Amino acid sequence: MSSSSSQIEVDSDTSDYDYETSFNSSTASLTSSINEYIFGADGRRYHAYFGPEKNLLPTDEIEQDRLDMYHEIMLQLRSELHQSPLAEPHNILDVGTGTGIWAIDMADKYPMAQVIGIDLTPIQPKWVPPNCKFEVDDAEREWTFKPDYFDFIHARTVSHSIGDWPKLLSQAYICCKPGGFVELLEFEMATFCDDGTMADDNPMKVFFDLLAKALAKIGRPGVTTASLRKNLEDAGFVDINVIQTKQPIGAWPKNKRMKQIGVMTMVNGETAFNAYGYQSFTRILGMGHDEAEKICKDAVEAMSNRNYHLYFMNDVAYGRKPREDEC
Ligand SMILES: C[S@@+](CC[C@H](N)C(=O)[O-])C[C@H]1O[C@@H](n2cnc3c(N)ncnc32)[C@H](O)[C@@H]1O
Repeated sequence: MSSSSSQIEVDSDTSDYDYETSFNSSTASLTSSINEYIFGADGRRYHAYFGPEKNLLPTDEIEQDRLDMYHEIMLQLRSELHQSPLAEPHNILDVGTGTGIWAIDMADKYPMAQVIGIDLTPIQPKWVPPNCKFEVDDAEREWTFKPDYFDFIHARTVSHSIGDWPKLLSQAYICCKPGGFVELLEFEMATFCDDGTMADDNPMKVFFDLLAKALAKIGRPGVTTASLRKNLEDAGFVDINVIQTKQPIGAWPKNKRMKQIGVMTMVNGETAFNAYGYQSFTRILGMGHDEAEKICKDAVEAMSNRNYHLYFMNDVAYGRKPREDEC
């Protein structure tokens, strides 16, 4: 008999469950549905349509809330949705749009523009401004957008997923209108400190040293100010600007605004450390579940220690595609 009330049969095998194999085999049997997802041993939900390696971060409601909060932190930090000097953009693309919150705000800000957000996962809301739409797509594949089409192409915090920046930016260059802008916002995969309060064994530093190691191992080494500038230059963009901003972690800053940003970053970090760390540590560095969870947990706890004056380095880099008369 099979009904939902029948007793669940117990597996007689009581040896330690091989999570790694189960994760891989469950992705191998995926159907083609873009909504297919799998659960990690950390209890988080991951989309897997393009393969679990593409985006190492979960895409569940916890992560969606985190992304929306991150958007708010970026607005507090930068005051603007973009730094590029846009005039009257008609076509805007957001690469790796996440919950689409930036794209929706841009559609509201520029009601005459059409805004498209693309992402590996369909986690965007259905009710959006009429001039905003979303598509499921892998930005690392060949782009099918028209050449010289977008006035503005934007990507924020996608570096953990991008293995080939030159290819991505050369496609962005082709699809950008002459005179249009490409803008990248990324935080460098490290913690920084100006006053010697970050010892080598600081749990946040330990976390980021390991995360950088994991991402380098899979050919996604993260960005630096220099790499952002060079990648934009190599793709052909001109008038490149890179703006570095310190994003405090925790309540340690005296300045009220910076304290608020630090506290929001700390709240965001409560789930961010797990989101970025868990799959990176277990799947890439081969750690066990308990070890990976402990490193994330220790980093979360360290954020509330106001004797540690750590911050992230947040970089916005933008460049302009030369106008036709400049070529
Ligand atoms: C950390 S989230 C940032 C989301 C959004 N940009 C924001 O700032 O709120 C990274 C997003 O990039 C998406 N992503 C990663 N690699 C991608 C790719 N190759 N093509 C399209 N989207 C990608 C992920 O699915 C995820 O939603």
